[in-house]
Amino acid sequence: MSGELLGLRGHLLDAPVFGQLRSWRDGALLIDSATGKIVEMGDHALLKRRHRPQKVRWVGGPEFAILPGLVDVHAHLPQYPAVARGDGELLPWLRQYIFPLERDFAKPRAALQSPLFFHDLARHGTTSAWLYSAIYEDSTDLAFEAAAASGLRIGLGKVMMDVGSYGPLQPKKILSVSLLESESLCKKWHNANGGLLRYVFSPRFAVSCSDRLMRGAAELAKQYGTPIQTHLSENLGEIEKVKFQFAWAKDYTDVYDQCGLLGPQTVLGHCIHLNPREVARLAETDSRVAHCPTSNIYLASGIMPLDRWRAAGLKIGLGSDVAAGPELNMWMVMRSAVEQQRARTFYEKDARPLKPIEAFHLATFGGAEVLGHGRETGTLDVGKEADLVVVELDKIVPYGKSGPRPHELSPQDLIALCIYRGGPHATAATYVRGRRVYAAGDTPPQLAEEAGAGNI
Ligand code: GUN
Ligand code: FE
Repeated sequence: MSGELLGLRGHLLDAPVFGQLRSWRDGALLIDSATGKIVEMGDHALLKRRHRPQKVRWVGGPEFAILPGLVDVHAHLPQYPAVARGDGELLPWLRQYIFPLERDFAKPRAALQSPLFFHDLARHGTTSAWLYSAIYEDSTDLAFEAAAASGLRIGLGKVMMDVGSYGPLQPKKILSVSLLESESLCKKWHNANGGLLRYVFSPRFAVSCSDRLMRGAAELAKQYGTPIQTHLSENLGEIEKVKFQFAWAKDYTDVYDQCGLLGPQTVLGHCIHLNPREVARLAETDSRVAHCPTSNIYLASGIMPLDRWRAAGLKIGLGSDVAAGPELNMWMVMRSAVEQQRARTFYEKDARPLKPIEAFHLATFGGAEVLGHGRETGTLDVGKEADLVVVELDKIVPYGKSGPRPHELSPQDLIALCIYRGGPHATAATYVRGRRVYAAGDTPPQLAEEAGAGNI
């Protein structure tokens, strides 16, 4: 305390508790630009009166909603160009479209596309994401550089695979090289950029990993205190393969368990077809789950029984899983989650629907908790780092300024409108730790320092 103060005026909405929405109509946040933290929150008129005008740079207005930044807990950076490609299930889709594309994620493509990718994340209002790169050290390094330049809060890891990999290395060498390269990236990038970056050890999934590789990844993560991400129980064909490859394991989850990969710093993508033992074990180890509804439909993987997993105590966030999910748009991912849980109630007697405000919780505070930064981000509380998305409400109501006035709508209706009609067209600005990383009209790759078209 204290640098220059930024005053953000708008309709404040956040969801620190599943099923509850907090709302301050014509509210405001004061952000200390030195620390990037929210130092005051409340009624706009009151805050304006309390501080001398020279002390605060005011932006925004009642036509904006100010929300916690969206959190995408699972996506694949090099895969983005392949969205909406193919109509197969997971394993043939990986072979036919994804491995060839990742094989091509060498330095030139990484240098060109990584800054565009992070720009697109920010344009969608996503402030934090955990991502997989491809198997290469050098292009992952470039992706980290772009992540640092973007100012976003990013976890990223080089994909590790030593069974059926797409790389040029002799099979005998892959295991040791994969571990060494991952370790060197971890040393360079974990907690870099003022702690906004994390290195995430990323064994792809059991099908493409030996148990020695998975054990090695777990040991490195433990040694450096870093997180882990992988895929679990996404597709029935995948599960059959795992059963065959790891005959010694009780089930798919047990493979990761025996290799030391489970725990509160581990995020597991999909987790659709789990048996009760697996659910109990994931809860017991406090392992985290990435629910990827758009991807689960796209690859015909299945529908997660979200209510049952939550009731068992699993901590769940939402992931776009680009490119199996066709969009980085987390509003679309929330909508898909809502619609799939609704659909379950049509044929499953005890299924419970997911309300839009509950999906909003999962994509904000829920996601931040899954990624281990729930204490720092995810709500608009004083003391939190200001990771925010500002939504221009006239861009999501029908007929724009001639349509329903935002102040006539309930907070629940505003969040539902964001979920059903939100996206980059309505993102007025995106902030991470109090710094603007995107403003409407910004073009890639020059981001925050350029003046945007918006006034915020
Ligand atoms: N399982 C292993 N790799 C992948 C991947 O790249 N995408 C998805 N959706 N599932 C996977
Ligand atoms: Fe994935």
